[in-house]
Amino acid sequence: MSQPVFARPVLCALALLAAPLASAQPDPKSLAQAEFDRASQLAPDIENGRRVYLTCAVCHRPEGWGSPDGAYPQIAGQLPEVVIKQLADIRAGNRDNPLMYPFALPRILGGPQNIADVAAYVATLPMTADNARGPGVDLDLGRELYEAQCAECHGAEGEGDVGRLAPQLAGQHFPYLMRQFTAIATGRRRNSDAEMTKLLAQFGPREQAAVLDYSSRLPLPSEKVAPAEWRNPDFPAYVREPLGIAPPPPPPPPPPPPPR
Ligand code: HEC
Ligand code: HEC
Repeated sequence: MSQPVFARPVLCALALLAAPLASAQPDPKSLAQAEFDRASQLAPDIENGRRVYLTCAVCHRPEGWGSPDGAYPQIAGQLPEVVIKQLADIRAGNRDNPLMYPFALPRILGGPQNIADVAAYVATLPMTADNARGPGVDLDLGRELYEAQCAECHGAEGEGDVGRLAPQLAGQHFPYLMRQFTAIATGRRRNSDAEMTKLLAQFGPREQAAVLDYSSRLPLPSEKVAPAEWRNPDFPAYVREPLGIAPPPPPPPPPPPPPR
């Protein structure tokens, strides 16, 4: 008397399911690249992007301003190509983001067209210039480092670079920049630019804080900044947390998708 009767068929079925995944699945980097190539060539439909953004608003807020504690980045006004790349990377498993991952999967987010649409919508959102900054104690060093080592790719004003897919850093929350810098320098954020990864790995804590404090203070062009008290009129029914009470946790992630 050995296994229960169902064990063998179940094992066979599992083996059948696992086999094609193990052999034919392209690596996350090529999967993400292929999806980026598709999505970035599509003509975006901003109206549909607004509809898709409903999911994103739960965490990134209707305005796309994220949270000053840096848990959620400001994505409003980000270059659409950068948003496309990050969405493709996250859902292909090329950048770890366990919280957002389930919402980036095709069954929730949809295909490349929805990615292109939501990225275009996000890019139209006006930004908050009231992003969280660093302590402001080492800005001369920060400027020196930024101009010598970061401006080439991220732009003199931190506006980002479409050709290099370098994100806009201006307007980003300081704690978020700190976390991403560390993730990049330690190799944990695998999708990062290889040249930059080597560069950041050489920074000490003082240099890191200084350059990111400076980056978080780079002025936004006035046409990208939201008017005072602006609230995204596209989401009038969004329930905001009452004063002084933390925002509700995001809804539980949906079940994993069926194997493809
Ligand atoms: C459940 C919460 C959640 C939802 C829903 C969500 N995100 Fe995110 N998103 C996050 C978190 C958390 C991060 C930062 C992860 C990290 O620290 O690496 C992030 C990061 C990002 C980034 C990377 C920004 C950067 O500059 O590095 C982009 C772009 C983004 N989200 C876009 C979206 C879009 C578009 C949607 C909707 C389709 C969405 N997110 C839905 C939580 C969420
Ligand atoms: C060779 C070009 C290059 C240089 C130089 C460079 N970066 Fe980057 N940086 C990039 C690219 C490309 C990305 C996006 C990588 C990805 O997709 O994950 C990035 C991403 C980042 C991010 C994450 C931002 C976000 O929104 O998620 C931070 C923070 C950052 N860089 C800081 C710096 C700082 C500080 C310097 C200077 C010390 C610097 N970078 C120099 C190309 C560069």
